[in-house]
Amino acid sequence: MIVTLQIHRYVDEKKWIQEYKIEITKGLTILSALHEIKAKQDPSLSFTSSCRSSICGACAVRVNGHSELACEVLLDTLVKRYKTDVLIVEPLGNFRVIRDLIVDWDPKYEKMKKIEPSLHPKAEFTVKTGCKQSIEDFDKYKKYAGCILCGSCVSECNKSALNEKDFLDPFIFVKAAKLVEDSRDKDHKQHLKDVIEAGLWKCFNCQECTASCPKDLDPAGAIEKLKEATFKLEMASSVGSNHAKAIYDDIYNTGLLDESKLSVQSEGFISAAFRVPIAYRLMKTGKLDLFEKAPVNKDISKIRSIIDIAAKEDK
Ligand code: SF4
Ligand code: SF4
Ligand code: FES
Repeated sequence: MIVTLQIHRYVDEKKWIQEYKIEITKGLTILSALHEIKAKQDPSLSFTSSCRSSICGACAVRVNGHSELACEVLLDTLVKRYKTDVLIVEPLGNFRVIRDLIVDWDPKYEKMKKIEPSLHPKAEFTVKTGCKQSIEDFDKYKKYAGCILCGSCVSECNKSALNEKDFLDPFIFVKAAKLVEDSRDKDHKQHLKDVIEAGLWKCFNCQECTASCPKDLDPAGAIEKLKEATFKLEMASSVGSNHAKAIYDDIYNTGLLDESKLSVQSEGFISAAFRVPIAYRLMKTGKLDLFEKAPVNKDISKIRSIIDIAAKEDK
């Protein structure tokens, strides 16, 4: 079967889409196809790759709007998944493009410095003893240590697409979660302070990063773990954390969400005062009654036991 690859080209500030035809052979990956095109059809096509074994993270691109490890995904799989013989290959999203499929990682590494991404060893460790820990302690963060810095999660992040200036990239939260879970590190609070300042509570929780991670690291879950740690270490005092707490309290107390009080509980009286005109309009149209007593869900005891079981399981 012959497939058309429509590849987004970018050279010296000129953008265009170039078509290449390639025959699908058994086991042909996107990366093998790119190499074949470069060798036999167009030596000017540029992309990055190294290990060809899903380990180095260098080859990630977007195919038909979704990030993929080019050395891992088979053309045959994509043709079947999208039911088409035309595949669109682009550089990763939310990165500056340098040339064709090559993106600039320097700003991402610069951003990573905000969380001081290295281990801050506890005082008990010395050069002689090393930084030992139990297998159980290692198991707590080993998943997050598997990040290959491929950028797939960044590419699909909706918050980064909207505004990345006040937000870290998902893989940086993964890195921070690893440090916060690592028993050898002495500065968990400092790492948490760094991620709070760098936008922890601004995540949309859309789960796109988790869906796109080729190593199943669950960056969105790592963000939730970091949020949970801010509560455990009594560092949760932002609008985002107040909002989460207000929702929890409402559901636990009544089994229902009382939207009319969320703004005050999350932002406090002074900031919430700016929303008075909206509240007034809602009251006028009968959508808000400040004096109405919030009802209690008739199944409140069942709701509470679900919350209690979930909290227990999480420990
Ligand atoms: S869950 Fe958060 S970090 Fe992940 S893609 Fe969505 S906005 Fe980005
Ligand atoms: S978290 Fe997953 S998707 Fe993101 S850079 Fe690491 S391995 Fe890639
Ligand atoms: S080339 Fe290394 S992960 Fe694809």
